[in-house]
Amino acid sequence: MKLARNIIFCLTIYYGFNLADAATLQIQITSKVSGENLQPASFRYQTSAGETFSITRVSYLVSDFALQRNDGSWLEFSNSVAWLDFDANRNSIWLEKIPAGEFCSVRFLVGLNTNLNHADISQFPAGHPLNPNLNGLHWSWQGGFVFLALEGLWRNANGEMDGWAYHLARDTNATRITLAAPLQITNETKVEMDFDLATLLNAPRPLSFGKDGPSTHSCDGDPISAALVVNLVGAFRIHKITALTDAEIAVAHPKPLYLPEKFTPYQFQMSATFPIPDLPRDNPLTVERVALGKTLFFDKQLSVNSAQSCADCHVPEKAFTDGRRTARGAEGEFGTRNAMPLFNLAWKKEFFWDGRAKSLREQVLQPIQNPIEMHETLTNICAKLRATDKIDYANLFTAAFGSPEITAEKISLALENYLLTLTSFNAKFDRVLRGEEKFTAEEQRGFELFSTEYDPRRGQFGADCFHCHGGPLFQSQSFANNGSDGAFTDIGREKITGKASDRGKFSVPSLRNVELTAPYMHDGRFRTLEDVIRHYSTGIPRSATLDPNLAKHPDGGVPLSDTDKRALMAFLKTLTDAQFALTEK
Ligand code: HEC
Ligand code: HEC
Repeated sequence: MKLARNIIFCLTIYYGFNLADAATLQIQITSKVSGENLQPASFRYQTSAGETFSITRVSYLVSDFALQRNDGSWLEFSNSVAWLDFDANRNSIWLEKIPAGEFCSVRFLVGLNTNLNHADISQFPAGHPLNPNLNGLHWSWQGGFVFLALEGLWRNANGEMDGWAYHLARDTNATRITLAAPLQITNETKVEMDFDLATLLNAPRPLSFGKDGPSTHSCDGDPISAALVVNLVGAFRIHKITALTDAEIAVAHPKPLYLPEKFTPYQFQMSATFPIPDLPRDNPLTVERVALGKTLFFDKQLSVNSAQSCADCHVPEKAFTDGRRTARGAEGEFGTRNAMPLFNLAWKKEFFWDGRAKSLREQVLQPIQNPIEMHETLTNICAKLRATDKIDYANLFTAAFGSPEITAEKISLALENYLLTLTSFNAKFDRVLRGEEKFTAEEQRGFELFSTEYDPRRGQFGADCFHCHGGPLFQSQSFANNGSDGAFTDIGREKITGKASDRGKFSVPSLRNVELTAPYMHDGRFRTLEDVIRHYSTGIPRSATLDPNLAKHPDGGVPLSDTDKRALMAFLKTLTDAQFALTEK
């Protein structure tokens, strides 16, 4: 298991506000399998020996980048090193301060040169690609780093599921890659490169987990590492080179909106097991802006009769839900949908049960104006906030945006800032990952059920939940029909996309804190978690858009004994982050 820690990072550093004046080259390397994007943890790949396998980890170090000029000489970037990792969403290295000119090829090492490989690791500060706590690739017992870690599952000749792990290490296995790259560097340039894992495991030297072995740590004369080194050379391919124009650079690096001269960067916190989120670059998190957003979130003046704040429907102790079946507006009217929990929103791209809002700043203005929710106009709100003497908004807006003017845009940016900081990552589950606590036997059984397929032909009788609620966030950025209905009163996602194939699909919610967010589903139809588990076990009607992961089960759902149901429940309760519920008031 990978080392799990909490990450705190400051976004001024993350964004790099002052972009270099000289040209910059971004080399982005995407993990592919036979030209297609890698589907992590999906059991869909085959070795040339016909073995089915999945890939769950792709983590590696690249270094010693150089560009070749047309006269044959090389421009070397002596300190260039990057840790690239599929799970952590790390896929790029930036080469800075390149003199304008023409180049014909690029070269780099997969791995590290001998000096760097055996350097004193205590010199690498937190955040440095070679900091062992960050990359989890340092190989303490023999010194030096694992250059490339590939892991997954495979089905052996007896039909059993097994792990495989190929770790390439040792100085002699650092592999030089040289690729033709016609580059005309005048401005910011991006090279998009593929790292094809099918080639790596197959060509020219085919590897088989059964014949060659399911794991290697690169001992001397190890045939697997020898094959990997040979295959690496052909596994990298450049598929696109783009030179950005000034206008495109402005889009790629939008300027922060209304950033005052003085501000305090906000320390964003998350678990080290989460991918790095893609936070909005034009609305950097600052302590002052978060504070304003939080004040607005709890201010009842945002509603027509000044009777309801956001927090009345999103109560912190209930992981920001309201405990009602469907939401009740400021004037007492009930809507048709269940209030959604608010945490780990930084990883979502589409908001609401049907995904109709493309950003948080767009989302937050909707409940304010919704006639059955807060039912207020944006003009009125701005006027009320200017006039109120209960809170010194002029001061709060000045600290957050550099001037006291109150506008709807600034309100939306401040609320977005605040919502992005609501991260939940300290449940028992996380502490078990960090080795600080242990699951009970029942919780452990529940975790197995949660993350195992239901496939009786292969002797697997799991509950199959992870397909949709998988990964460290326990959610997916997608919409699915989880068998709520056979015929639909609320067509969900179809209403937004107009596609019949989206009928009855809803956003897959996170299962973190699910113990606190009853009642459940988009319409709050289930009062308890017992009801939800009964639904997945016996309550699923077939319909045209029922998700294939559920449709493959027997009619009604995955068969679960009462003991299994209780185990699953016990596991779901390990996802409760009591600290989050208490501190976010
Ligand atoms: C009357 C109760 C109510 C009020 C007041 C309310 N919300 Fe909500 N909120 C809901 C409901 C219901 C949904 C789901 C609606 C849907 O999917 O159509 C929701 C969804 C959301 C989401 C989407 C979360 C996700 O994962 O997609 C966010 C963000 C949000 N609300 C923030 C706010 C903010 C900020 C305010 C105050 C400006 C607010 N809400 C006021 C009931 C409310
Ligand atoms: C096909 C994808 C899929 C699978 C598989 C799946 N779910 Fe869900 N789950 C969803 C969707 C989509 C929703 C929201 C549906 C709605 O709102 O009507 C949901 C909702 C839930 C909720 C309610 C959360 C809330 O905040 O309202 C729980 C709890 C839940 N699922 C648990 C499970 C468990 C346990 C399993 C395994 C037995 C499982 N899910 C399997 C897609 C899936």
